[in-house]
Amino acid sequence: MTKKMEKIMITGALGQIGSELVSVLREKYGGKNILATDIKSPSQSTSSLSVPFEYLDVTHKDSIENIVKKYRIDTIYHMSAILSATGEKNPHQAWDVNINGTYNILEVARQEEMTRVFVPSSIAVFSPETPRNHTPQDTVLKPRTMYGITKVTGELLSEYYVCRFGLDVRGCRYPGIISHQTLPGGGTTDYAVEIFYEAVKNKHYTCFVRKDTRLPMMYMPDCLKAAVDLMETDFSRLKHHAGFNVNAMSFSAEELAVEIKKHIPDFVCEYKPDERQNFADTWPNTIDDSAARREWGWKPRYNLSSMAEDMVKVLSQRHQEGKLNY
Ligand code: SER
Repeated sequence: MTKKMEKIMITGALGQIGSELVSVLREKYGGKNILATDIKSPSQSTSSLSVPFEYLDVTHKDSIENIVKKYRIDTIYHMSAILSATGEKNPHQAWDVNINGTYNILEVARQEEMTRVFVPSSIAVFSPETPRNHTPQDTVLKPRTMYGITKVTGELLSEYYVCRFGLDVRGCRYPGIISHQTLPGGGTTDYAVEIFYEAVKNKHYTCFVRKDTRLPMMYMPDCLKAAVDLMETDFSRLKHHAGFNVNAMSFSAEELAVEIKKHIPDFVCEYKPDERQNFADTWPNTIDDSAARREWGWKPRYNLSSMAEDMVKVLSQRHQEGKLNY
Protein backbone atom coordinates (compact mmCIF):
# COMPACT_ATOMS: atom_id res chain seq x y z
CA MET A 1 0.00 0.00 0.00
CA THR A 2 1.36 3.43 -0.92
CA LYS A 3 1.24 5.68 2.16
CA LYS A 4 -0.59 9.01 2.12
CA MET A 5 1.36 12.26 2.08
CA GLU A 6 0.11 14.42 4.95
CA LYS A 7 2.63 17.20 5.73
CA ILE A 8 4.68 18.37 2.80
CA MET A 9 7.84 20.50 2.84
CA ILE A 10 9.23 22.15 -0.29
CA THR A 11 12.86 23.27 -0.44
CA GLY A 12 13.78 25.95 -2.98
CA ALA A 13 10.18 27.16 -2.69
CA LEU A 14 10.97 30.61 -4.07
CA GLY A 15 12.67 29.25 -7.20
CA GLN A 16 11.27 28.90 -10.71
CA ILE A 17 9.62 25.50 -10.13
CA GLY A 18 9.25 25.64 -6.34
CA SER A 19 7.17 28.82 -6.32
CA GLU A 20 4.54 27.33 -8.65
CA LEU A 21 4.72 23.90 -7.04
CA VAL A 22 3.67 25.51 -3.75
CA SER A 23 0.42 26.75 -5.36
CA VAL A 24 -0.38 23.38 -6.94
CA LEU A 25 0.29 21.44 -3.72
CA ARG A 26 -1.64 24.02 -1.68
CA GLU A 27 -4.68 23.51 -3.92
CA LYS A 28 -4.33 19.75 -3.81
CA TYR A 29 -3.47 19.04 -0.16
CA GLY A 30 -4.58 22.23 1.66
CA GLY A 31 -2.44 25.21 2.71
CA LYS A 32 -2.04 24.09 6.33
CA ASN A 33 -0.34 20.91 5.14
CA ILE A 34 2.34 22.69 3.11
CA LEU A 35 5.57 24.28 4.33
CA ALA A 36 7.63 26.45 1.98
CA THR A 37 11.36 26.81 2.67
CA ASP A 38 14.17 28.61 0.87
CA ILE A 39 17.60 30.13 1.47
CA LYS A 40 16.38 33.40 -0.06
CA SER A 41 15.24 35.99 2.44
CA PRO A 42 11.53 36.21 2.92
CA SER A 43 10.18 39.11 0.89
CA GLN A 44 6.91 40.22 -0.56
CA SER A 45 6.88 37.18 -2.81
CA THR A 46 6.67 34.82 0.18
CA SER A 47 3.40 36.30 1.33
CA SER A 48 1.88 35.37 -2.03
CA LEU A 49 2.72 31.73 -1.26
CA SER A 50 -0.14 31.70 1.32
CA VAL A 51 1.51 28.90 3.29
CA PRO A 52 3.92 28.94 6.26
CA PHE A 53 7.51 29.82 5.32
CA GLU A 54 10.83 28.94 7.01
CA TYR A 55 14.34 30.02 6.07
CA LEU A 56 16.35 26.86 5.29
CA ASP A 57 19.92 26.25 4.15
CA VAL A 58 19.89 22.62 3.00
CA THR A 59 23.63 22.29 3.62
CA HIS A 60 22.83 22.44 7.35
CA LYS A 61 21.42 19.07 8.37
CA ASP A 62 20.49 20.24 11.88
CA SER A 63 18.30 23.00 10.44
CA ILE A 64 16.48 20.49 8.23
CA GLU A 65 15.94 18.21 11.24
CA ASN A 66 14.59 21.01 13.42
CA ILE A 67 12.11 22.19 10.81
CA VAL A 68 11.00 18.66 9.89
CA LYS A 69 10.32 17.87 13.58
CA LYS A 70 8.64 21.21 14.27
CA TYR A 71 6.14 20.77 11.43
CA ARG A 72 5.93 16.93 11.57
CA ILE A 73 6.91 16.75 7.89
CA ASP A 74 6.43 13.36 6.20
CA THR A 75 7.05 14.30 2.56
CA ILE A 76 9.70 16.50 0.92
CA TYR A 77 9.85 18.00 -2.55
CA HIS A 78 13.56 18.88 -2.70
CA MET A 79 13.65 21.61 -5.34
CA SER A 80 16.67 23.65 -4.23
CA ALA A 81 19.71 23.37 -6.50
CA ILE A 82 22.42 25.39 -8.21
CA LEU A 83 21.87 25.18 -11.98
CA SER A 84 24.37 24.53 -14.77
CA ALA A 85 25.75 27.98 -15.62
CA THR A 86 26.05 29.16 -12.00
CA GLY A 87 27.47 25.75 -11.15
CA GLU A 88 30.32 26.19 -13.64
CA LYS A 89 31.13 29.61 -12.18
CA ASN A 90 31.28 28.13 -8.70
CA PRO A 91 31.63 24.33 -8.88
CA HIS A 92 32.47 24.02 -5.16
CA GLN A 93 29.25 25.72 -4.15
CA ALA A 94 27.30 23.57 -6.66
CA TRP A 95 28.79 20.44 -5.09
CA ASP A 96 28.00 21.63 -1.58
CA VAL A 97 24.38 22.61 -2.24
CA ASN A 98 23.46 19.87 -4.70
CA ILE A 99 25.35 16.93 -3.19
CA ASN A 100 25.48 17.69 0.53
CA GLY A 101 22.03 19.28 0.43
CA THR A 102 20.48 16.22 -1.22
CA TYR A 103 22.35 13.85 1.10
CA ASN A 104 21.10 15.79 4.14
CA ILE A 105 17.52 15.71 2.88
CA LEU A 106 17.68 11.94 2.25
CA GLU A 107 19.32 11.28 5.61
CA VAL A 108 16.72 13.26 7.55
CA ALA A 109 13.97 11.55 5.54
CA ARG A 110 15.46 8.16 6.41
CA GLN A 111 15.86 8.97 10.10
CA GLU A 112 12.34 10.35 10.36
CA GLU A 113 10.91 7.42 8.35
CA MET A 114 9.23 9.73 5.90
CA THR A 115 6.50 8.68 3.50
CA ARG A 116 8.09 10.00 0.30
CA VAL A 117 10.76 12.31 -1.16
CA PHE A 118 10.91 13.96 -4.59
CA VAL A 119 14.44 14.64 -5.87
CA PRO A 120 14.37 16.13 -9.38
CA SER A 121 17.08 15.39 -11.90
CA SER A 122 17.85 16.98 -15.26
CA ILE A 123 18.77 16.39 -18.90
CA ALA A 124 22.18 17.66 -17.75
CA VAL A 125 22.96 14.06 -16.64
CA PHE A 126 23.56 13.22 -20.31
CA SER A 127 26.79 13.69 -22.20
CA PRO A 128 28.39 13.69 -25.66
CA GLU A 129 28.59 9.87 -25.52
CA THR A 130 24.81 9.57 -24.98
CA PRO A 131 22.60 9.00 -28.06
CA ARG A 132 21.27 12.49 -28.82
CA ASN A 133 17.95 11.54 -30.38
CA HIS A 134 15.30 9.62 -28.44
CA THR A 135 17.83 9.39 -25.63
CA PRO A 136 17.07 6.11 -23.81
CA GLN A 137 16.07 5.87 -20.15
CA ASP A 138 19.04 3.72 -19.24
CA THR A 139 22.11 5.00 -21.05
CA VAL A 140 25.58 6.52 -20.73
CA LEU A 141 25.75 9.29 -18.12
CA LYS A 142 29.12 11.06 -18.25
CA PRO A 143 28.23 14.75 -17.81
CA ARG A 144 30.88 17.43 -18.25
CA THR A 145 29.31 20.06 -15.97
CA MET A 146 29.41 20.04 -12.17
CA TYR A 147 25.63 20.47 -12.25
CA GLY A 148 25.30 17.30 -14.35
CA ILE A 149 27.68 15.41 -12.07
CA THR A 150 25.66 16.39 -9.01
CA LYS A 151 22.42 15.33 -10.73
CA VAL A 152 23.79 11.88 -11.69
CA THR A 153 24.97 11.48 -8.10
CA GLY A 154 21.55 12.59 -6.83
CA GLU A 155 19.90 9.90 -8.97
CA LEU A 156 22.31 7.20 -7.77
CA LEU A 157 21.95 8.28 -4.15
CA SER A 158 18.15 8.32 -4.41
CA GLU A 159 18.10 4.82 -5.90
CA TYR A 160 20.49 3.70 -3.16
CA TYR A 161 18.14 4.98 -0.44
CA VAL A 162 15.25 3.11 -2.10
CA CYS A 163 17.15 -0.19 -2.30
CA ARG A 164 19.26 0.00 0.84
CA PHE A 165 16.88 1.70 3.30
CA GLY A 166 13.44 1.24 1.73
CA LEU A 167 12.91 5.01 1.56
CA ASP A 168 10.40 5.98 -1.14
CA VAL A 169 12.40 8.44 -3.30
CA ARG A 170 11.25 9.50 -6.76
CA GLY A 171 12.38 11.93 -9.42
CA CYS A 172 12.39 12.81 -13.10
CA ARG A 173 14.94 14.33 -15.45
CA TYR A 174 13.50 17.72 -16.23
CA PRO A 175 14.31 19.36 -19.55
CA GLY A 176 14.43 23.18 -19.82
CA ILE A 177 11.37 24.55 -18.03
CA ILE A 178 9.48 27.48 -19.56
CA SER A 179 7.28 29.59 -17.29
CA HIS A 180 5.99 33.11 -16.65
CA GLN A 181 5.74 33.49 -12.86
CA THR A 182 9.25 33.18 -11.45
CA LEU A 183 12.31 33.56 -13.67
CA PRO A 184 14.84 30.74 -13.75
CA GLY A 185 18.29 31.60 -12.46
CA GLY A 186 21.67 30.45 -13.70
CA GLY A 187 20.62 27.71 -16.10
CA THR A 188 21.59 27.00 -19.71
CA THR A 189 18.00 26.71 -20.89
CA ASP A 190 17.09 30.16 -19.46
CA TYR A 191 17.14 31.63 -23.00
CA ALA A 192 13.86 29.86 -23.75
CA VAL A 193 12.22 31.94 -21.01
CA GLU A 194 14.10 35.24 -21.45
CA ILE A 195 13.22 35.31 -25.17
CA PHE A 196 9.50 35.67 -24.33
CA TYR A 197 9.99 38.52 -21.85
CA GLU A 198 12.27 40.40 -24.28
CA ALA A 199 10.01 39.74 -27.28
CA VAL A 200 6.98 41.12 -25.46
CA LYS A 201 8.78 44.09 -23.92
CA ASN A 202 11.43 45.10 -26.50
CA LYS A 203 10.64 43.04 -29.62
CA HIS A 204 14.32 42.08 -29.66
CA TYR A 205 16.41 39.35 -28.02
CA THR A 206 20.07 38.41 -28.17
CA CYS A 207 20.14 34.67 -27.63
CA PHE A 208 23.18 33.12 -25.92
CA VAL A 209 23.08 29.85 -27.90
CA ARG A 210 23.34 29.26 -31.67
CA LYS A 211 20.11 29.23 -33.63
CA ASP A 212 20.45 25.53 -34.48
CA THR A 213 20.70 24.55 -30.79
CA ARG A 214 17.93 22.02 -30.23
CA LEU A 215 17.03 20.99 -26.68
CA PRO A 216 14.15 19.24 -24.90
CA MET A 217 11.83 21.71 -23.15
CA MET A 218 8.63 21.63 -21.09
CA TYR A 219 5.95 24.15 -20.12
CA MET A 220 5.46 24.71 -16.39
CA PRO A 221 1.97 23.14 -16.11
CA ASP A 222 3.46 19.88 -17.43
CA CYS A 223 6.48 20.19 -15.14
CA LEU A 224 4.17 20.43 -12.11
CA LYS A 225 1.94 17.65 -13.40
CA ALA A 226 4.99 15.37 -13.74
CA ALA A 227 5.98 15.95 -10.11
CA VAL A 228 2.46 15.44 -8.76
CA ASP A 229 1.62 12.43 -10.95
CA LEU A 230 4.89 10.65 -10.20
CA MET A 231 4.48 11.23 -6.44
CA GLU A 232 0.86 10.00 -6.51
CA THR A 233 1.66 6.74 -8.30
CA ASP A 234 1.48 3.47 -6.41
CA PHE A 235 5.04 2.49 -5.49
CA SER A 236 4.55 -1.07 -6.72
CA ARG A 237 4.14 0.18 -10.31
CA LEU A 238 7.63 1.67 -10.40
CA LYS A 239 10.62 -0.20 -11.78
CA HIS A 240 12.73 2.96 -11.91
CA HIS A 241 12.49 5.52 -9.11
CA ALA A 242 14.77 8.51 -9.53
CA GLY A 243 15.69 9.93 -12.92
CA PHE A 244 12.70 9.18 -15.16
CA ASN A 245 13.09 10.65 -18.65
CA VAL A 246 10.13 12.99 -19.33
CA ASN A 247 9.65 14.42 -22.81
CA ALA A 248 7.30 17.22 -23.84
CA MET A 249 8.68 19.22 -26.78
CA SER A 250 11.98 19.84 -28.55
CA PHE A 251 12.87 22.83 -30.69
CA SER A 252 15.86 24.81 -31.91
CA ALA A 253 16.34 28.39 -30.72
CA GLU A 254 15.46 29.55 -34.23
CA GLU A 255 12.23 27.50 -34.30
CA LEU A 256 11.27 29.13 -31.01
CA ALA A 257 11.91 32.61 -32.44
CA VAL A 258 9.82 31.77 -35.53
CA GLU A 259 6.97 30.58 -33.30
CA ILE A 260 7.07 33.82 -31.28
CA LYS A 261 7.09 35.85 -34.52
CA LYS A 262 3.70 34.34 -35.38
CA HIS A 263 2.32 36.35 -32.43
CA ILE A 264 4.74 39.31 -32.48
CA PRO A 265 5.56 39.83 -36.21
CA ASP A 266 8.22 42.53 -35.70
CA PHE A 267 10.19 40.46 -33.18
CA VAL A 268 13.89 40.13 -34.08
CA CYS A 269 16.21 37.54 -32.55
CA GLU A 270 20.01 37.66 -32.80
CA TYR A 271 22.41 34.92 -31.75
CA LYS A 272 25.63 35.49 -29.79
CA PRO A 273 26.66 32.17 -28.23
CA ASP A 274 28.58 32.34 -24.94
CA GLU A 275 30.04 29.64 -22.65
CA ARG A 276 26.57 28.16 -22.09
CA GLN A 277 26.66 26.91 -25.69
CA ASN A 278 29.26 24.36 -24.57
CA PHE A 279 26.88 22.91 -21.97
CA ALA A 280 23.94 22.83 -24.39
CA ASP A 281 26.09 21.00 -26.95
CA THR A 282 26.47 18.04 -24.58
CA TRP A 283 22.73 17.61 -23.96
CA PRO A 284 20.21 15.63 -26.07
CA ASN A 285 17.84 16.78 -28.81
CA THR A 286 14.92 14.55 -27.86
CA ILE A 287 14.15 12.14 -25.05
CA ASP A 288 12.60 8.66 -25.00
CA ASP A 289 10.18 8.76 -22.06
CA SER A 290 8.46 5.40 -22.60
CA ALA A 291 9.42 4.20 -19.09
CA ALA A 292 7.61 7.17 -17.49
CA ARG A 293 4.59 6.63 -19.75
CA ARG A 294 4.48 2.93 -18.90
CA GLU A 295 5.24 3.05 -15.17
CA TRP A 296 3.20 6.09 -14.06
CA GLY A 297 1.19 7.21 -17.08
CA TRP A 298 3.22 10.32 -17.97
CA LYS A 299 1.70 12.38 -20.77
CA PRO A 300 2.44 16.06 -21.46
CA ARG A 301 -0.29 18.52 -22.45
CA TYR A 302 1.65 21.33 -24.15
CA ASN A 303 3.62 21.46 -27.38
CA LEU A 304 5.66 24.35 -28.84
CA SER A 305 2.69 26.07 -30.42
CA SER A 306 0.29 25.89 -27.42
CA MET A 307 3.07 26.84 -24.98
CA ALA A 308 4.20 29.87 -27.04
CA GLU A 309 0.63 31.07 -27.52
CA ASP A 310 -0.01 30.96 -23.77
CA MET A 311 3.33 32.57 -22.82
CA VAL A 312 2.82 35.49 -25.21
CA LYS A 313 -0.79 35.94 -24.07
CA VAL A 314 0.05 36.03 -20.35
CA LEU A 315 3.16 38.22 -20.67
CA SER A 316 1.49 40.66 -23.13
CA GLN A 317 -1.39 41.11 -20.71
CA ARG A 318 1.04 41.80 -17.88
CA HIS A 319 2.99 44.23 -20.07
CA GLN A 320 -0.18 46.13 -20.94
CA GLU A 321 -0.94 46.46 -17.24
CA GLY A 322 2.58 47.84 -16.70
CA LYS A 323 3.52 44.87 -14.52
CA LEU A 324 6.14 43.11 -16.64
CA ASN A 325 9.01 43.65 -14.22
CA TYR A 326 12.07 41.42 -14.32
N1 SER B 1 17.42 24.13 -16.81
C1 SER B 1 18.62 23.47 -16.35
C2 SER B 1 19.83 24.24 -16.68
O1 SER B 1 19.84 24.84 -17.69
C3 SER B 1 18.71 22.09 -16.94
O2 SER B 1 18.18 21.20 -16.03
O3 SER B 1 20.76 24.22 -15.98
